[in-house]
Amino acid sequence: MAKKRSGVSIDEKLLKDLKVFLKKQGYKSRSHLIEELLNAWIRERKWEREKKEVYAVFIMVYEHEKRQVSKKLLEKGHRHYDEIISTLHIHIDEKNCLEITVLKGRPGHIRKISDELSATRGIKYGKLIRV
Ligand code: NI
Repeated sequence: MAKKRSGVSIDEKLLKDLKVFLKKQGYKSRSHLIEELLNAWIRERKWEREKKEVYAVFIMVYEHEKRQVSKKLLEKGHRHYDEIISTLHIHIDEKNCLEITVLKGRPGHIRKISDELSATRGIKYGKLIRV
C-alpha cells in the first residue's frame, strides 16, 4: 500500500512515553505502531455501525461491597436479559470481583448496555470487546 507522510502534533510527555514503549516492545518504527493503533481504533468503531447482530464481551472489575455495586449490576443485568447471554463471576480476593459478560445483539444496543454498565458507580475497570 502506498504510504503518505503526515505530520501530527503530539504532547511532549506522550512522545517520550511512546519512545520508551517502542524500545521495550521492540517496535522498529513509530509509524508502524501508529498505523496499528489507528487500524484498531477504526475497526472498533466500524462494527458499531453494522446492522446485524454481533457478539461482544464486557469485562469489569469492582469491589462488591462498595456503593451497592453488586445490586446495581444485577438490576441492570435483568433489565437487559435479552442481550446478556452469560456472566462469569470470579472472586479475585476478599474485596474485588472480576466479571465477564457475554452480550449478543445489535451493535448500537450492545454499546449502550456497555456504557450503562461502565457508568455504574464503583466499577474500577470496564472494557467492551467485540468478538
Ligand atoms: Ni465476587
